[in-house]
Amino acid sequence: MRKVKVELGINSYEIYVGSGLLAQTGHWLKESGFSGKLVIITDPTVKGLYGEALNQSLDKDGFNVTTLLVPEGEEQKSLETAGRLYHELTDCYAERATPILALGGGVIGDLTGFVAATYQRGVPLIQIPTTLLAQVDSSIGGKVAVDHGQLKNKIGAFYQPRLVIADINTLRTLPANELANGLAEVIKSAVIRNKEFFAFLEKNLDRIKSLDEKALEEIVFQSVKIKTEIVEKDERDLGLRSILNYGHTIGHAIESVSDFKVEHGRAIAIGMLAAARISNQMGILDKNELIRLKGVVEKADLPTEMPNLEVEKITQAMKHDKKVWRDKIRFVLLKSIGSVFITDEVSSSLVKEVLVNEET
Ligand SMILES: NC(=O)c1ccc[n+]([C@@H]2O[C@H](COP(=O)([O-])OP(=O)(O)OC[C@H]3O[C@@H](n4cnc5c(N)ncnc54)[C@H](O)[C@@H]3O)[C@@H](O)[C@H]2O)c1
Repeated sequence: MRKVKVELGINSYEIYVGSGLLAQTGHWLKESGFSGKLVIITDPTVKGLYGEALNQSLDKDGFNVTTLLVPEGEEQKSLETAGRLYHELTDCYAERATPILALGGGVIGDLTGFVAATYQRGVPLIQIPTTLLAQVDSSIGGKVAVDHGQLKNKIGAFYQPRLVIADINTLRTLPANELANGLAEVIKSAVIRNKEFFAFLEKNLDRIKSLDEKALEEIVFQSVKIKTEIVEKDERDLGLRSILNYGHTIGHAIESVSDFKVEHGRAIAIGMLAAARISNQMGILDKNELIRLKGVVEKADLPTEMPNLEVEKITQAMKHDKKVWRDKIRFVLLKSIGSVFITDEVSSSLVKEVLVNEET
């Protein structure tokens, strides 16, 4: 097992990455000073796959466990579901010291985090992410939220977990599209911050796709380290943290214009390549680096070409996104693999050009 410490003063915590960690969860919670009552929030699929293993470990260490179920799907990240969970927590006598465990993907993590941040003005939160995206991204850094109408992730808080347990073994049951969604964020982490990690991805994507244990542990560990280092410098997302949005300016617009038919990871892959093309056209990024990025995206079974969507609608959607700052669209661009910068100097004609002409 490998550990990463997130240094945030009194809100510091550790992230454990390794295989078979679910079976040791009870032990670590005891070690962290927890005992007695504890609540797990999860969805039916994840409960069916991993509920038993987690319960056994918690039983062994004497915890009194209540499991609350939330149906699957982004639509559950809502104030309505949060409201139902507050009632269920009250019904099972959860108190201020009662830890809540989020067992699942990013939807469960964000929703449970929001509930933990607000129930009784804040109860201890433990993240047990079970998708690649949740292990490398959403469980780290304390952003918790629900959606509200058109406001995606806009009702929320910064609320750090007490512990994150990323059991690599859970990735074995992930559907291929969910693995690809997570891989897009893994590639993004390498591209923005670590060229050696990017070279590792270039060499090892076949091992990763065949779910080689060591390769999976390495990509989760490296991605966690990169996100941790950024969050430590900018917990509240006031500057540096926005480099984590590399590929997301165009990616989010593609998701939204396609009515979410283009999945997150696929949209981000196209967005990352478009941002690299913009960087190349502006004379900042060497063409070879763009070709390397395209190679890795392709090997990860992610798309490299724009879906059939109206470019005008995509540029319009970008203007409505949160990455608009004082009326200018903010872009994270690439200097070279491993090095990015933030700018609002990208012309909309150049954005349209790279979206229309993918040879550029
Ligand atoms: N808080 C953040 O910083 C942050 C960052 C990125 C994304 N997010 C959020 O994360 C969410 C997306 O998360 P996601 O991609 O994990 O999707 P998800 O949570 O919807 O999970 C996808 C599906 O995988 C299933 N699943 C989970 N673990 C499994 C496993 N081990 N085996 C088989 N099936 C499994 C779930 O039941 C679900 O049906 C979005 O709501 C997004 O806004 C948050």
